[in-house]
Amino acid sequence: MSASLSPIKVSELSQAPKKWDEATSSTTSDQNATLSDVALGELATARSVEEPFVPLDITRHTPQCIHKFNSIEAISASGCWVKSVENRKYLDLSSGIGVLSTGHCHPRVVQAAQEQCATMIFAQQNCINTTSNHKDLISRMLEIMPNFGTQPKLDSFFFVNSGAEAVENAVKVARMATGKQNVIVLTGGYHGRTYGSMACTSSKTSYRRCFGPVMGGVHFVDFDIDEVNHNPKYAEKLIKNFERVLTQQSDTLETACVLLEPILGEGGIVQVPLDFMKYLRRKCTDENIMLIFDEVQSGFGRSGKWFACEHAKVTPDILVYAKGIASGFPLGGIAANQNAVMSKLLPNALGGTFGGSAVAVAAANATIDVIRDENLLENADRVGAIIVDGLKKINEKTKRKDGTTFFTHFRQYGLFIAADLNFATSGALIKRAEKKEMILIGGGKNGIRISPPLVMSAQEAYVFLERIEECVNELTSESVVSSS
Ligand SMILES: Cc1ncc(COP(=O)(O)O)c(C=O)c1O
Repeated sequence: MSASLSPIKVSELSQAPKKWDEATSSTTSDQNATLSDVALGELATARSVEEPFVPLDITRHTPQCIHKFNSIEAISASGCWVKSVENRKYLDLSSGIGVLSTGHCHPRVVQAAQEQCATMIFAQQNCINTTSNHKDLISRMLEIMPNFGTQPKLDSFFFVNSGAEAVENAVKVARMATGKQNVIVLTGGYHGRTYGSMACTSSKTSYRRCFGPVMGGVHFVDFDIDEVNHNPKYAEKLIKNFERVLTQQSDTLETACVLLEPILGEGGIVQVPLDFMKYLRRKCTDENIMLIFDEVQSGFGRSGKWFACEHAKVTPDILVYAKGIASGFPLGGIAANQNAVMSKLLPNALGGTFGGSAVAVAAANATIDVIRDENLLENADRVGAIIVDGLKKINEKTKRKDGTTFFTHFRQYGLFIAADLNFATSGALIKRAEKKEMILIGGGKNGIRISPPLVMSAQEAYVFLERIEECVNELTSESVVSSS
């Protein structure tokens, strides 16, 4: 640690304001003690004399409406593992809903963030034009942007703090750049919880009930997630549904953008039919409608590609990203073509205080390097296949006499995996998984989302399979007992 970063010593306080002298001189004779030692010492003494220690009841001090998948109180985490206060080690199959692309505390991400903290914590975008880290991130982003067909390159980037904020900005950009208002989305999609992004969200009513009126101008195309599982020609039906929205609800002259997740995350890891995405690309270009892909969850390697739209070989007009970009630091943003889109924005159209925080940007640079250097896209495909293969075997082994299986469907794109349940509820399986020291989350109507850090090894995947098999066995035998 450099001298300028050392904690202030009590002996160095001769220049300090008087109140600091007074505060410190009576409490310590140790001139090497730091200010925080002194302050903590005083606090501890005061506490131990006057107040008995009462553990904080978190349920009394946080809104109880926040959905908690488990009851873990964590103290530390590394890679795919989270340690609790009881010293239990949980295998993390959630990545904090797809955020921890390089796992918990990847040493290169930690180092980049620590170094950035010591160099410059904050470079506000209006006050400081750019930093070398910001330029480095843009160079890296330019290398990984999807780039198919004759579509203008995604070469201009605006950074914000979260996925929802990024979605809001994508819609603002589309409205201003086209001079039109309406937004077309798919039913079952999830785009965030702020007013604009919530207006575009329809995966569950619980995200928006009693909050209205929400942002206007949003129109929904019927997207039947169940039918995607069964109907290989679903793209044709979806095109008809979309065209019906254009003829009955939102004319092309009023439609600013179509916003969708190429693979719905919260909706149950459902890939939008590739032919529909190709059709949308043509239609949007013809009608001056911006095609926006929300890759907040599916991006940054989650589906085995940098971005999930690569499966369809379609480049959007605006790409929305967040979550996995910075391995846990709050960063999101949008990418679009400078000439075709960003140059149409009026002065001051975009902004925000914290967007593109220097520490998050440093973490993003390290994240992209780790994904590339450790071949995490290939790893996601390889380990994802091991997981689904194992789950299929468990399904066979635990088949009930009437031929029904524990899981009904699997959908796997890299380490973006859904397993739909049959007779057990996803809540019951997630609770059982916690007992076996796993962090699992739900998705879709009644399924689990398996989206571990992209660094998960084959060995860790086998640990998961062993533990989930125990859960499936227990829930299957309980269901047999309760139905007999
Ligand atoms: C596809 C998608 N869009 C937007 C969001 C909102 O992101 P945030 O929670 O960072 O606001 C999410 C969050 O889960 C998401 O999955």
